[in-house]
Parts: sequence; C-alpha cells; structure tokens
Amino acid sequence: MRYFPAFLDLTGRSVLLVGGGEAAARKLRLLRKAGAEVTVLAPRAGTEIEGLAASGAVRLVRRGFVAGDVTGRSIVQAATGLDAVDSRVAEAAGLAGLPVNVVDRPDLSSFIMPAIVDRDPLVIGISSGGAAPVLARRLRERIEALLPAGLGRLARFAETFRGAVEANLSNFVERRRFWERFFDGPLAEKILAGDERTARERMLALINGGSPSRAAGSSASGPGTVHIVGAGPGDPDLLTFKALRLLQRADVVIYDKLVGPEIIDYARRDAERIYVGKAKANHAKTQDQINALLLSHARAGKQVVRLKGGDPFVFGRGGEEQAYLRAHDVEVEVVPGITAATGCAAAAGIPLTYRGEAQAVTFLTGHARDGEPDLDWAHLVKLRQTLAIYMGVSTAAVISRRLIEHGLDPATPVAVIENGTLPNQKVATGSLAGLEALLQANGIVGPALIVVGEVVRLAESGALPQQVQALAG
Ligand SMILES: C[S@@+](CC[C@H](N)C(=O)[O-])C[C@H]1O[C@@H](n2cnc3c(N)ncnc32)[C@H](O)[C@@H]1O
Repeated sequence: MRYFPAFLDLTGRSVLLVGGGEAAARKLRLLRKAGAEVTVLAPRAGTEIEGLAASGAVRLVRRGFVAGDVTGRSIVQAATGLDAVDSRVAEAAGLAGLPVNVVDRPDLSSFIMPAIVDRDPLVIGISSGGAAPVLARRLRERIEALLPAGLGRLARFAETFRGAVEANLSNFVERRRFWERFFDGPLAEKILAGDERTARERMLALINGGSPSRAAGSSASGPGTVHIVGAGPGDPDLLTFKALRLLQRADVVIYDKLVGPEIIDYARRDAERIYVGKAKANHAKTQDQINALLLSHARAGKQVVRLKGGDPFVFGRGGEEQAYLRAHDVEVEVVPGITAATGCAAAAGIPLTYRGEAQAVTFLTGHARDGEPDLDWAHLVKLRQTLAIYMGVSTAAVISRRLIEHGLDPATPVAVIENGTLPNQKVATGSLAGLEALLQANGIVGPALIVVGEVVRLAESGALPQQVQALAG
C-alpha cells in the first residue's frame, strides 16, 4: 500500500491554505466541513473565498507566501497552480515536519486526498494512490448511487442509543447481533425514510421493555413490513435507489408480469420470489389471493417487497393492497416508480406537456368490462391536453371513435409505444382516425401506451427509433 489511509481530526485546528482560485475554494469547502480554522494566503482571491472572508468564516491574508507562514499549523494545503510557489510551500512544510498536500502534485505531497462519499458522520474515502484518479471518482459515483441519502441520519440515530444498548446488553456478541439486526431491519428503514420520531419511540420501547437483541431486526420482530414498490416501465436502470435497496434486503419478493427478470435478479440471492402475474399456463392470482399472500408473509415477520410494474399508485392496485394491509395492522410503505406514461414518453422523445400545445396531461385506462371503456369522453376532448392511455390496445377502435364523435379532430396525432424503455421497444405514429390500423400494421399487442395529442408532432424525428411507421389519417 503506497498510502496509509487515515482520517484526521481537524476540528478547531489551524490549517494554512495557499492560493485563492477555484482549486483553493474546493479545498476550502472540505476543510471547513471538517471544522478546521483555515487561513487563506493569496494576493488575490475569487468571489467565494472573498465572500467567506467578508463574513468572517475564514481569515484571508492578501499577500504572497513566506516560509514562516507554516509555523503553528496542523496541515498545509497548497493550491496556487504555480509550480514555483507550490514547491516552496511543500518545502517549507516538509522542513517544519508538517503534512502537506499540493493539488495535482502527488510528487510534492506527503498526503493525498481521496475521493469521498459524504454521509456525515459516515465518510468513505477512495484513493487510487494517484494512479488513476478518474477511476477513483467513477467508483465514488457508484458508491454514491448505492448509499441512501439518509445514511448519516441513521448513523447519528444509532450513536444516540449506543449507551442505552450497552447498558441493556452487557455481552459484546449480543450487542453486535443487535446492531446487525437493527441496521438490516424495519427501524433502520423508517429512519432512512425520514420517520425518526416513530423509530425513536419504538427503539425506546425496545430498550425499556423486553429483549432488544431479538426485537430490532426483521424476522425476529413479529409482524414484518410490506413495501409496495414501483419497478418502473421495464428498463432496470429506471429503478429508484430505494427500490434497489429494498430488493436487496427483502426476504420475499412478490411480483407481477410487467416486472422483467433483470429486475428480479437484483433481489437478494436467498430471497423467496413469488410470481403472481398472469401467464397462459398459470391462472392469474385474484387480488384476494395476493392480499392474503402479502398478509401471511408479513405476519410471519418477513420483509416483503411487493413489486409492481411502473408506479404502484397508477393503475397498479397499490391503493387496494395498501388499504387491505393497513386494515390488518400491517406496516406498509409505498415506493413510487416511473410510470409507463412518463417512461414511454421519454423513450419516444414525446414531451407530455408543452407550452402552447398541451397544458395538461390525463392518464386514463382503456380497460373495458363490457367492450367499451367507461370514460367521460366529453371531458377528455376539452382543453389542450395530452391523453396517455394505458391498457388501450384492445379497445383502441372504440376509443378513437368516441373521441372523434365528441369533437376531437380525426387528424390529431397519436403515438403507440409498445414495450417502452425495453430493448424490444416499438414506436408507431399516425393519426387518431387511423389508430386501429396503426396498431394492426405494426403488430402491436402490448403492453403498450397510446399517446394522443399535438405533442406527438414534437418528438424529434431523430429521437424516434427505426421501427417508426407513420400512417396517414
Ligand atoms: C396494469 S397497468 C400498470 C401500469 C403501471 N402501474 C404503471 O404505472 O405504468 C398495465 C399497462 O401499463 C402500460 N405499460 C406498462 N409498462 C409499459 C411499457 N413498458 N411500455 C408500454 N406500456 C406499458 C400498458 O398500457 C399496460 O397495459
């Protein structure tokens, strides 16, 4: 290992920063975060440093560097970008036995600064030892994406209970198990979701009564939790960070037809996966059966992820499942997903609203119990709006007929997006009067979203995939 990783406590310590430009300002931000007392030395400084100096947050000395400036400092940072000056700073710090860093000059530095992921008090430093700083930054981006924003909050919460847990559990192994269960369990999830009050009340209850070591975690804690999670329209990259995190810690994943195998693969390896969608050889489970399944797993103390295509609250029956579980005293959290309308529109380059063209967008279902969707047609043709029609492939003919009968121009542009955001996505555009012919000509069977409105014209032709086939009215 070329560099020894360590974290310095700079709180209240004197740090010399030589330089007043952008590089110096970046270092200053970090040093101030760490609570250092920074003296900036520069004949001229940029607006950020000047502003901080004016407010008294840092001391700015407007002159060039002399060797004596390093005296009494904890560390020295050079960021002038001028070889001669940076070298003199490094030399003076070296002679005084002080740690010194020079921006972009590992050869002059006695320490280097890692790329950091900051979830204070949790901080992750990544260094390639100067070999490949861009690679270290890439790695940081990946870690950033994996770690929930509220991780610092979780660490602080745990800190406030450390003493109490220690008093309750004298055995080190028991304490470790307690914290392991805590960090993997529903209380931690509550804190990450911002509900610290409930988490605090429950933690106090755990500590004050009974055995916290059994109760903090998931399966040992009685009723489990159900997360009703939106998986987005299909592209796994459109999952939310939260969906990914929950999938990776779920005991059971109960999923629908629209959720592809790449997304299910994100689940923990030993998680139970239960398919409840429709398949030809396999009769669909009724909503009652799905509700009962969710309830039984939650009551067995499992962490359940109920994974649905798109967003659970948009034509997803997430509302019914939430109500059922709440009525049975099961804790439920809903995690939104990108709904088909926004996912498909983005994938096809169609803005759903546009100044002057569409002031509103209506999500509607073309699903029909007895051949005809039960919709307020007169309302749908009012306003300059975009219609995003879910489940409308089999009723497309009647939808276009009714909209035209109620006054919508037969030439209104339409787009049909099948398997939106997936590699086999198909986009076809035409006019409202020709909607059914458009579906047939392109062999569209679904899942597909139909977009009706002037905004379809705005899709840049370059943004539409090859399969586009425009049919005249
Ligand atoms: C039962 S609804 C579920 C909607 C989902 N909850 C959402 O928010 O997108 C199923 C319908 O959503 C639309 N849909 C879902 N995913 C789609 C995709 N990738 N491409 C096109 N349409 C999609 C289709 O209209 C499909 O028939």
